[in-house]
Amino acid sequence: MTESAANPMETLVSLCKRRGFVFQSSEIYGGINAVYDFGPLGVRLRRRIRDAWWREMVDLRDDVEGLEAAILMNPTVWEASGHLTNFSDPLVDCLGKCHQRWRADQLEGTTCPNCGGHLSQPRQFNLMFKTFIGPVEDENAVVYLRPETAQGIFVNFKNVVNSSRQRIPFGIAQIGRSFRNEISTGNFIFRLRELEMMELEWFCQPGQDGPWFEYWCDQRFRWHESLGLKPEHLRLRPHGEHEKAHYALASSDIEYSFPWGWGELEGIARRSDFDLKRHQEVSGRDLQYTDPSTNERYLPYVVEPSLGVDRTFLALLLDAYAEEKVRGETRVVLHLKASMAPFQVAVLPLSKKPELMELARTVERELRQQFSTEYDDTQSIGRRYRRQDEIGTPLAITIDFESLDDHSATIRDRDTMEQVRVPLEQLAIICADRLDVGR
Ligand code: GAP
Repeated sequence: MTESAANPMETLVSLCKRRGFVFQSSEIYGGINAVYDFGPLGVRLRRRIRDAWWREMVDLRDDVEGLEAAILMNPTVWEASGHLTNFSDPLVDCLGKCHQRWRADQLEGTTCPNCGGHLSQPRQFNLMFKTFIGPVEDENAVVYLRPETAQGIFVNFKNVVNSSRQRIPFGIAQIGRSFRNEISTGNFIFRLRELEMMELEWFCQPGQDGPWFEYWCDQRFRWHESLGLKPEHLRLRPHGEHEKAHYALASSDIEYSFPWGWGELEGIARRSDFDLKRHQEVSGRDLQYTDPSTNERYLPYVVEPSLGVDRTFLALLLDAYAEEKVRGETRVVLHLKASMAPFQVAVLPLSKKPELMELARTVERELRQQFSTEYDDTQSIGRRYRRQDEIGTPLAITIDFESLDDHSATIRDRDTMEQVRVPLEQLAIICADRLDVGR
């Protein structure tokens, strides 16, 4: 994001609403804290993020399988995984005027940051949402909304081993919604109560997890760069002793330089055999892996790269946002990589003359087979270019009166604003070349 944006987060929140990326959930009723809806363009961007992750982690590898486990699980899962006892943050209450609640580990001083009042002693607050399964709302019917997708992978480890041809080392990947009753929220979609995670559990021989941890830290860092995030806005930070989750031997975060400082984009953890061992103990099922060549039996160790779709979404928009001076005016532009842009090509008839609209629609219908396209015949051409810049469309094709005679059109480049004339029959090939995508 450029320096010129007065308050980068406010500017982005407003763009997200104005252009249909993100809306506050249940806005007409005053909203609900830390829950957001994703509009037409937001849905497209999220899909790009998920697709890019799935392609890298599953489609382009032969050692990773996919999984979609349910959000609701047998509650014993959370007892075994340690989430019931350990998935909590220290909560303090303001005993002064405002009675606000804070996460003790995120406070600088010892008084309430809002009103300066005294704070209560910290108490552990479990972040899992509870609900009931079935018609009777008693203790026996309590179930939890999963706070991570990983446990669905661990409890299915044997199912995947037995039904696939995978041999260790291999991974199981999953994308799905998770829920966390976060104490302190804010910063737009950075810390949500309903979020979407993309997680890989990588199973390897005990003792091999150190090198695999290095491997995944490196792979994942490069993936974030490949989305177009500026390398100077990314860093890998090993966790200190006190920061590690209850299941982790060691972890590192890939962090992004958000407007308020460095923040976690992705966590990579060495989970050892913590989870499989606990599930084996509590379920009484044998979860060991048998090496087919040596018949050695063991509980695999796990390395886990885990990230949120929502934080990736936020980082991509912040990184791509720019305000640029053009002929004395400010244009807002999202310099998104073509493979991430909600639309790759916009087709715009110069005016609402029926012949132009018809030809533009034909061109757009043809290009849509290969690219994500949008047809737009509203407003002046200048305003339509500005809108496409603001939503990050890399190419805009204008069909004008000459197009009817010479069967050519103008391609305008979002970043350079250069315009070139190209024959209609070469449009698809030229777009593919410029966008470096083919979908
Ligand atoms: N299974 C590992 C795990 O849950 P985590 O570090 O708690 O690890 C992984 O979460 C990732 O999920 C984070 O790096 C972040 O991208 C995302 N994430 C976690 N909590 C979030 C929240 N409340 N809102 C948005 N994204 C969140």
